[in-house]
Amino acid sequence: MQNAYISGTGFYVPPRVVTNDDLRTQYGIDTTHDWIHKRTGIESRRFADEGIGSSDLAVHASVDAIAAAGIDKKDLDMILFATLSPDHCFPGSGVFLQQKLGLCDGDSPKFVPAMDIRNQCSGFLYGLTTARAMVTSGQCKHVLLVGAETHSAALDLSTRGRTVSSLFGDGAGAVVVSATTEDRGIRGTWLGADGRFALNLCQKVWDIKKRPFIPMNAEGVGQVTPENAWAQMDGKIVFKHAVEKMCLAVMQSCWELQIELKDIDLFCFHQANMRINQYVAQQLNLPDEKVVHNIQRYGNTTAATIPILLAESERNGKLKRGMKVAMVAFGSGFTWGSAVCDW
Ligand code: ACO
Repeated sequence: MQNAYISGTGFYVPPRVVTNDDLRTQYGIDTTHDWIHKRTGIESRRFADEGIGSSDLAVHASVDAIAAAGIDKKDLDMILFATLSPDHCFPGSGVFLQQKLGLCDGDSPKFVPAMDIRNQCSGFLYGLTTARAMVTSGQCKHVLLVGAETHSAALDLSTRGRTVSSLFGDGAGAVVVSATTEDRGIRGTWLGADGRFALNLCQKVWDIKKRPFIPMNAEGVGQVTPENAWAQMDGKIVFKHAVEKMCLAVMQSCWELQIELKDIDLFCFHQANMRINQYVAQQLNLPDEKVVHNIQRYGNTTAATIPILLAESERNGKLKRGMKVAMVAFGSGFTWGSAVCDW
């Protein structure tokens, strides 16, 4: 059987920096830098301009990852697109990315399958599990896996929505998962979910059980109420379960692979909240230098946090060939997951 490894990483964040103070001065939110920074570690985030969607951010990250993998885009056999902020309700963003990458153009178009993954903050690890399965089963040689989010368009950027809207930012991260006969790559992935907490962190927008699914006036013009339009979150419950499940996910990886925590060289945790990750690191007694963060600069970019971390860590020299890297995520669903790779 082939091994599956991450042959290339890439990332892209939109250029517009929005600081915590900008939330107050530009958007009129009653907040302070200290409140946000103290509770989350966030200093700034990036917001895309109007007209830019998740598939647009994903194109840049994908081009970067494909180049890093040393392949041509037409060598790809599959696209996996993890996002909770797809361009539209349907079709999924994977097909928009396929088209924008130019896979459908020219004399030798590649009509590869394009699948969207809807597992929010754990989406990248659900995608990595799928990509690995497609590669190790011999069905694909190169799978492009992207996590991309355009949160800024769907945040209640007012004082009413400040608890949620101060947490999130826009960005995209991508990896190419490729086949290899070398003794390296993704050693295992472990996923979980607990649907009892499905509504503790959600953005409903509509209710398909209702007729029509969005309230409409006599002219057929839809009106979404604020509690449906914007994400709803019970922050304290999320915090508690995130710490617990992320610790367990790391321990499960070690148990399944029969390795010890000290064997892991780098920890790439989902970037929901610096405090969550500090608790996890503290509980597991991890040295600071083994845990990488970027939430200070980007906020929570949901499905994009881990691939952005991987790409940044490769580029700044923290992630090198031969290292053992653990990835862990927790998010809406609740869903969670972990993965261990020999880089
Ligand atoms: N600025 C100023 N005040 C604020 C802000 C803000 N941005 N947001 C909330 N407040 C106020 C509230 O209105 C409330 O005021 P009140 O007491 O007058 O009613 C007060 O601060 C306390 O609000 P809480 O919601 O109780 O604040 P808490 O201490 O729980 O912190 C936080 C909120 C930071 C979201 C915390 O619960 C948390 O970090 N939870 C984890 C959630 C998370 O990380 N989610 C990310 C998405 S999920 C994921 O990716 C895993």
